[in-house]
Amino acid sequence: MADNTLESLFSRLGRFPDVESANLQAWDATDRLLLDTAVELRAAGGLPPGGRLAIVGDRYGALTLGALAQGAAGPGPVRVHQDLITGERALRNNAAALGVDGGFEQLPLGAGLLSGAGLVLLQLPRSLAELEEIADAIARHAAPDVVLLAGGRVKHMSLGMNAVLERHFGWVQPQHARQKSRVLLARGPRPADGPPPFPVTEANSELGLTVCARGAVFAGTGLDIGTRFLLEFLPRMPAARHAVDLGCGTGILAAMYARSNPGSRVTATDQSAAAVDSARATAEANGLTAQITVLQDDAMGLLPAGDADLILLNPPFHAGAAVHAGAGVKLIEAAGRVLAPGGELWTVFNSHLHYQPALQRLIGPTREVGRNPKFTVTASIRKSAEV
Ligand SMILES: C[S@@+](CC[C@H](N)C(=O)[O-])C[C@H]1O[C@@H](n2cnc3c(N)ncnc32)[C@H](O)[C@@H]1O
Repeated sequence: MADNTLESLFSRLGRFPDVESANLQAWDATDRLLLDTAVELRAAGGLPPGGRLAIVGDRYGALTLGALAQGAAGPGPVRVHQDLITGERALRNNAAALGVDGGFEQLPLGAGLLSGAGLVLLQLPRSLAELEEIADAIARHAAPDVVLLAGGRVKHMSLGMNAVLERHFGWVQPQHARQKSRVLLARGPRPADGPPPFPVTEANSELGLTVCARGAVFAGTGLDIGTRFLLEFLPRMPAARHAVDLGCGTGILAAMYARSNPGSRVTATDQSAAAVDSARATAEANGLTAQITVLQDDAMGLLPAGDADLILLNPPFHAGAAVHAGAGVKLIEAAGRVLAPGGELWTVFNSHLHYQPALQRLIGPTREVGRNPKFTVTASIRKSAEV
């Protein structure tokens, strides 16, 4: 495909419903390099004939829609896994905007996605644990002659990534870098014996809680230091009819709150599939499934306005690889919608992030309830009616 055709397709991609801003774009040079490398390999006879294409980690659809535009999808629909519900929705939005009707299937990481795959394109994840889970799944389920092309921005890649791939593939070869991106090519999958390694389960003795984590979830089975600080204020939080752990990760806040407030109904919600799987497993492991509902959603979009009287939030400070306060402000704005009048948002953040003006404006009167050398905890009360 001519360079400018793919460029013009990419230029029409949006990130919505993910945070959009002038310095954030919906594709990167790694998408381009992965697609070009696949075409070159196919032309050189380096791909198994008749193998299906699977894609893992497509951010907003550049890989899926690019492969379809190149006619490089192979037999059957392109099967694609994206951890974030915002990425899944963005792919569908972008397909509709480009007039692409079908041609791809969005699936969880596992056999349905990968069985019979002869080529896998992977946007390398940030964490080695997430890569471990993905590499294990590919080696377990894809065709024995599968070729994995795993690409990333050079500044985010580490030798640890090669080591993870070498545990699951007999042959791993870094390719030449181009425009600050690089592809690792892997062949010869070595399917692991025994059950899949994720979710990992660990007893946290400090909390007296069993924490379960899939590879992609924030903090793994660990306790984030901001979350630990917010938990110090658990005894001072109101007893809610309906409390929400917004951006729940492994669901530690939901589980700890549910345990100390047995009369409360709790929703744990996150945009990440790995997070909601983990939170569900954490609730199960601690006997809290009757009290905790787990929901994959973008910023509580599925919850009605005024539905909650308490929201707990340790906000994200990343939007993809970029540090961006917009992701946190989006969740504060969502909390303003979902809290009933008089309901409270309890949040913890790095003190230098100065979220108070946004909390004051989007929720209502905000008081500082705690501060340590690094973090601030605030409680904001949802103001009554709009004036
Ligand atoms: C800093 S982590 C906190 C995780 C967990 N609450 C804890 O304390 O360990 C922020 C979480 O927010 C989630 N998140 C980010 N943007 C979101 C959105 N738009 N909707 C739902 N969850 C989101 C991330 O996936 C991540 O799990």
